Amino acid sequence: MAGAAQQPLPIVVLISGHGSNLEAIIEANRRSELPVDIRAVICNRPDAGGIEISRQAGIETRIIDHTRYADRAGFDAALQTAIDAYNPGLVVLAGFMRILTPGFVDHYRGRLINIHPSLLPEFPGLNTHQRALDAGRQVAGATVHFVTAETDGGPAFLQVQVAVQENDTAETLAERVLQHEHRLYPEAIRRVAEGRIALDEKDRVLCDGIPLETACLLEPDVASGT
Ligand code: GRF
Repeated sequence: MAGAAQQPLPIVVLISGHGSNLEAIIEANRRSELPVDIRAVICNRPDAGGIEISRQAGIETRIIDHTRYADRAGFDAALQTAIDAYNPGLVVLAGFMRILTPGFVDHYRGRLINIHPSLLPEFPGLNTHQRALDAGRQVAGATVHFVTAETDGGPAFLQVQVAVQENDTAETLAERVLQHEHRLYPEAIRRVAEGRIALDEKDRVLCDGIPLETACLLEPDVASGT
């Protein structure tokens, strides 16, 4: 609505690695293209590169090392307590490499999203790029989806397509897809933050109030011609 100031959506971002998607989210937020308040970044690996990105940005950064917990349930309980202290409207998995327990996933139902580097439902899990190449795919990509107990299986709502090139290896393809993830994830989060995307009680994604049949496609990037 014109003139109505929108409150930024409080989010917590979970990472395990390089944090390049986190960086893309931070940058989009800085450019005022993403109406979120990044309350905290939580990382399960003390040596992850993304920790420095988060600290440099002045974001509250916590490390919860999963190896210090006897089991998955213990780690997830500690993680949940830490997240809930920030009262987020959305929890963003950005390269968070842990399988989450059903209880944790249920607790954040409709406010937990993930990015996966394939055109889901194809190639869930690991080694997605090599599997796409082995299957002879000419188009690869990435998907943002709500998280359910099924790994990489929750309702998808935004995808980006990336052309496979003849001489691609899993590494070159991964690198190119990752560049597009950096456009995709901020845009997906923006749509949730603006209330345009939501999960209904039947696990359907509503886009502007209408159930989505399939995930939307992000427009090609005019600048790079992709
Ligand atoms: C990305 O490819 C993401 O899709 C996958 O893990 C990778 C994380 O990269 N889930 P980064 O840590 O954001 O650089």
